[in-house]
Amino acid sequence: MDITCTDRELFIFKKIGKVAGDLQLPCYLIGGFVRDKIIGRPTKDADIVCLGDGIELAHKVAEQFNPKPTVAYFKNFGTAQIKLQDLEIEFVGARKESYRYDSRKPEVEPGTLEDDQNRRDFTINALAISLNAADFGKLVDPFNGVTDIERKIIETPLPPPQTFSDDPLRMMRAIRFATQLKFTIAPETFTAIQENAERIKIVSQERVTDELNKIMLAEKPSVGWDLLSKSGLLQVIFPQMMALHGAEYIDGHGHKDNFYHTLQVLDNISAHTNDLWLRWAAILHDIAKPPTKKFEEGHGWTFHGHEVVGARMVPKIFTKLKLPLSEKMRLVQKLVLLHLRPISLTKENITDSAVRRLLFEAGEDIDALMMLCEADITSKNKIKVKRYLQNFELVKQRMAEVEAKDSLRNWQPPITGEIIMQTFGLPPSKNVGLIKDAIREAILDGIIPNSYEAAHGYMLQKAAELNLTPIE
Ligand code: CTP
Repeated sequence: MDITCTDRELFIFKKIGKVAGDLQLPCYLIGGFVRDKIIGRPTKDADIVCLGDGIELAHKVAEQFNPKPTVAYFKNFGTAQIKLQDLEIEFVGARKESYRYDSRKPEVEPGTLEDDQNRRDFTINALAISLNAADFGKLVDPFNGVTDIERKIIETPLPPPQTFSDDPLRMMRAIRFATQLKFTIAPETFTAIQENAERIKIVSQERVTDELNKIMLAEKPSVGWDLLSKSGLLQVIFPQMMALHGAEYIDGHGHKDNFYHTLQVLDNISAHTNDLWLRWAAILHDIAKPPTKKFEEGHGWTFHGHEVVGARMVPKIFTKLKLPLSEKMRLVQKLVLLHLRPISLTKENITDSAVRRLLFEAGEDIDALMMLCEADITSKNKIKVKRYLQNFELVKQRMAEVEAKDSLRNWQPPITGEIIMQTFGLPPSKNVGLIKDAIREAILDGIIPNSYEAAHGYMLQKAAELNLTPIE
């Protein structure tokens, strides 16, 4: 088999084969490493399966290198890992596995190479390459995995219901590989996913979300989301997203299908950024359209407040999906909340004060917000898209002007609460907040310039209105 390994990789694999030979443990490179090498994708994780004790083999291999790498091993799983420069190598004994219907805990026993290949998820992941002296480099491909790579097909080695019942996460993996590799899921395999979708419930949320994030980071993530929807998995793992489906018509008024609109926005933003959280913001930007949807007589469909309701839904969705409840979540929430603001500026006469307000509220996330907003411009009507994009450019230009003039990014008003308290000898109190807000609003509205002197003068004026006088 022609696969391209670096000289260093070849040296390591030959050494492993030699050590295994001395121990009389036939061993093979297997799984994702072989797949990716055949495809020509970069890969740094090599799985080695041996007919015997993988942990023992790992220790013996480690001894051959100077400096000797640490062996991280897990007795319960019979696996061991070593790291040689940037290559992570995992050793495991070949096994036969069977799973009980209601659990992911496998019953494992030692097996042959064939048993080990049988228990793997897809034909393209069941390829093995011998590292043994007698036939070093020979491909063992019992399920025509190479042909499936050429045909770009995701297919299970065993009848699909069995493979998916052994580990239902594989249903997500099938969709993830199809999205990452731009492969097609074989019809019989896809039907089995549709029939078994409910069983994804027995898999831990962390593993499911891991796959979702990998789908999300693919070049064209919409492919995966559409497959998740069509397979029935999305209804189980993320029903709020499914609710975006469909376009309703009343009295000739229709609205766009928000599911496919959302996927378009996701692909649009993905063409500009690999940031996972901006991609999540795209998925979630219209998530509250279904619960806020109304038909107004003579007017048509409205989704009033969907940005506010959507922002409120973000923490619930993050909690359910076990995504981190960190500043990343707050970023997504903020983008969902503000996603209509830049475009709404195009509908009015763009005043400096409206632009200043947006710059202030978005703060350092203004570029991310503008990216989301631009991605949100979708329509089948090319002329409409062109007009929106032109207006959007105008907003960007106005922003750059105001930003250059007032430098409001990461802006804090020049008079702090501390200064107000010291000037008037006040404890933390309502009046301090009133004066502080008044100064901020006056600057944002352009009533006073953004300078310490102007803000100080305005503070004295506002305080006088509240019958406060400065202490000496
Ligand atoms: N595997 C499997 N079923 C799973 C997970 C993994 O059969 N649910 C097998 C596959 O043969 C896979 C190998 O274990 O190739 C290694 O799994 P993993 O490292 O998760 O995936 P890779 O195929 O290496 O791909 P990636 O690194 O992109 O996740």
